[in-house]
Parts: sequence; C-alpha cells; structure tokens
Amino acid sequence: MQVIICKNAQDVGEAAAMIFASTIYAKPDCILGLATGSTPIPTYQKMIELYKRGLLDFSKVRSYNLDEYVGLSGDHPCSYRYFMNTELFDHVNIDKANTHVPSGLGADPEANAREYDKMLAACGGIDLQLLGIGRNGHIGFNEPNDDHFVYNTNIITLTESTREANAKYFDKPEDMPAKAISMGVGGIMAAKRVLLLATGSSKAQAIHDTVLGPVSPKCPASILQTHPNAQIICDEEAAALLK
Ligand code: F6R
Repeated sequence: MQVIICKNAQDVGEAAAMIFASTIYAKPDCILGLATGSTPIPTYQKMIELYKRGLLDFSKVRSYNLDEYVGLSGDHPCSYRYFMNTELFDHVNIDKANTHVPSGLGADPEANAREYDKMLAACGGIDLQLLGIGRNGHIGFNEPNDDHFVYNTNIITLTESTREANAKYFDKPEDMPAKAISMGVGGIMAAKRVLLLATGSSKAQAIHDTVLGPVSPKCPASILQTHPNAQIICDEEAAALLK
C-alpha cells in the first residue's frame, strides 16, 4: 500500500483527479467506483474543471457508487444519488444511465443488495475505486466489528460515530436514517486499483490504524494492506500519526 502525503485537502483533490484523468485516458470506457462525503468534493471539482477545459471525456465511462441510505429516494437532497448528481454527474458528459448507486428503497433492501452484487459481478470489474474513510476506519459503510469482514453488499446499521459525523447534513439530526446499503469489503477489494483519500485531523487515528495497525475488522480500511494496488492520498493533518 502506497501512501502519498499532500499539503492540504485541495492538493489531495488535485492529485486524485490526476489519477482519475489518467485512468480515463488509458481506458475511455473504464468503470469507476465512486464515493460520497465531504472528502472527494475537491476531486470531483477538479474533474469537472478538466471536463470543462475539454481535457476529459466521460461519455463512455460507467460508475458504481459505494453506498446509499436506506429509505431515501434519489431526489432527497441528503441521498447519495442526489449528491452524485449535483457534485459530479450534472456537470460532466457522463450518461446517467451508466451511473449506478445502490437503492435503499422498497420493501426488501436485502434483495437490492443481492441485485447490486450481481450487477458488480457482471460489469467486468471496477478499474479505479475511490474511497473516503470514517473516523472509525469504515470504508463504504462497512462499520468496525470485532471478528469479521462483511464481503457482500449488505444492509448496515450505522454506528453512533457515523451517525454523529453525518447528522450535520440533515435538517434535523433525527431525520438521518439508521441504516444504509453498502458495497461490501469484497466488492471494494475486487477493484483493480483502490484510491483512499483522507483529509483533516479527525482522520489521523483511522489512517494510522489503516497503514500501521494489524489487518483487522476493528479497522475495516486495514484490509487494503492486502490489496495489490492500493494507494492512500492524505493531507498532512490526516497523516500526522504516521511518523
Ligand atoms: C461515502 C462513504 C463513506 C465516507 C466516509 C467519510 O460514500 O462510503 O465511507 O467516505 O464516511 O466521509 P467524509 O468524507 O464526509 O468524511
């Protein structure tokens, strides 16, 4: 696992966007695994800028997102489908029919999870998977636990730490769903290349545990130590405990 340390969040975004750009240049019909949250926003902004300058073409790109809240439809401003549309897809020439976000709707979210895994298996493999990281070391919404990694797309009960971190996006904190549907660790590890971004001091302990700790479901991101092509790009604050 390679670690690249940049000065600040803006530089992390620029570095990550360069990796996205080179992936799209090398394979215009590549499959991107995408993440939401505050961390990838500078990356998406840089990708939009490159597109607007005529340097990037998303017309053949396909994408699969990591996760979605259970119970939120795509037009809910806090849903991850809405986030992807407003932060990236609406501003570039990607065909929305080629973009996929797991669905947290319907009577049987577990069935949606099984369906998402079938789509992932059929898509031919994610070329570049973008990840953020939770303060507790989660990737996607795969929350820490004592004894096992969850490999398949699954329905997750969000931890207090995650609920506290994300409640700020909701008008009323109690409106935040208690559950999410998330690609499992198996789907993430199956990607050909993984790029985890981390910015800010609140991620320092999680980055320490990911890079220097044992591979353990207590820090789900630590499994990336065993991925053959994983990189972490973090800013100086998130890297503070690596020295
Ligand atoms: C989002 C996701 C989460 C976030 C993580 C960090 O799709 O899968 O793992 O990447 O919670 O969120 P931010 O970037 O908001 O700190």
